[in-house]
Amino acid sequence: MEVFSCPTRLMAGSGAVKMLAQLGGKRLFLVSDPYFSNNGWAKQIAEAANCQEYVIFDKVQPDPTVELAAEGTARLKEFGPDLLVALGGGSAMDLAKAMAYFAKVDCPLVAIPTTSGSGSEMTDFAILTHDKVKHPIVDPKLRPNVAILDSDLLQQLPKGLIAEAGFDVLCHAAEAYVGKDGGMMTDLLAREAFSTAYAALPASYAGNTAVRLKVHMASTMAGLAFTQAGLGLCHAMAHSLGGMFHVAHGRLNAILLPAVIGCNAHVAGKKYAELARAAGMGGSADTIALRNLKNGLIRLRRELNLPETLVQAGVDPRVLWRSVDTIVKAAVEDPCCKTNPMPVEDFLVRRILEEVTGRV
Ligand SMILES: NC(=O)c1ccc[n+]([C@@H]2O[C@H](COP(=O)([O-])OP(=O)(O)OC[C@H]3O[C@@H](n4cnc5c(N)ncnc54)[C@H](O)[C@@H]3O)[C@@H](O)[C@H]2O)c1
Ligand SMILES: [Fe+2]
Repeated sequence: MEVFSCPTRLMAGSGAVKMLAQLGGKRLFLVSDPYFSNNGWAKQIAEAANCQEYVIFDKVQPDPTVELAAEGTARLKEFGPDLLVALGGGSAMDLAKAMAYFAKVDCPLVAIPTTSGSGSEMTDFAILTHDKVKHPIVDPKLRPNVAILDSDLLQQLPKGLIAEAGFDVLCHAAEAYVGKDGGMMTDLLAREAFSTAYAALPASYAGNTAVRLKVHMASTMAGLAFTQAGLGLCHAMAHSLGGMFHVAHGRLNAILLPAVIGCNAHVAGKKYAELARAAGMGGSADTIALRNLKNGLIRLRRELNLPETLVQAGVDPRVLWRSVDTIVKAAVEDPCCKTNPMPVEDFLVRRILEEVTGRV
């Protein structure tokens, strides 16, 4: 049986943040990071909501911690908003979602993504870090009520962020497409998200701002797909390695995705081949299309100047191999493994670690 729901109202286009004023809030709590306080966007967007009173909580850091979520939850309860806005990347949205969840506030949550990557504006996930381990919390109550995709916020995206977040989109789409809980609706979204992001990322990275809304929409589509179809081993390993080494989530996905596709291909080769053809990579035989998919991702990773190995991403291999048991355990226990197309066992994670550290 296929169950698909999209409770989040989506507003997209240039100037879409002005729609905040239509939501009728009087007391606004805005969650963001220092970058948006410093450049004035947090204040500008809080004022666009036209509320009588607002508070800006701007303590978000990449990979937000459980401790920060507890601090934010207390501030949120104390203020008692009737409108909650998350402005920023996956980290800001995840923190705001977790705060609303723990505080049990009964007000709309509006997500305004400023990166085209996490898809968190559409998902039932919030990822918090505790003791160097990233823990996904998964609950339909976490899904934002409104997502505002404003292309004006994407005009000055740094190249590194376009590349990293872009690979997160490709990874969400590819994992959702082969995810165990997928169906026709999620396949449709994942295929479109993958081919749109794959086609538009080089131009966006090269400075073409006109294509950025396309990648932003692809990110949202991929979020909507994976929140129902599930993710897989690539995200499980990205969570485990990200908690320990604090390498950006999208960079880890870029390093891991071709290797994970290689392993999963034993059971999901046909679907990967479909994805390759949908993205215009060709290959009439499934084995050729699969090879094109892996090579296409490796080529794009190079074009976007992303690292190819964990060592290139700054991970000390001696530390990694000393901590390998912890990394493997966290990956195998990550809830994303449940929807990976093939069962995840220790040896598979070790095999991929060897590939992405250049041991094989
Ligand atoms: N909840 C979900 O469904 C989900 C899905 C995937 C990833 N995630 C999580 O999201 C996080 C990654 O999110 P992300 O890739 O969006 O990065 P991020 O939110 O961690 O932000 C990274 C950096 O980019 C900066 N930044 C954000 N927007 C910017 C802009 N427009 N211009 C300049 N700088 C900007 C931020 O200030 C920050 O320093 C990870 O913690 C990951 O685990 C969550
Ligand atoms: Fe992700």
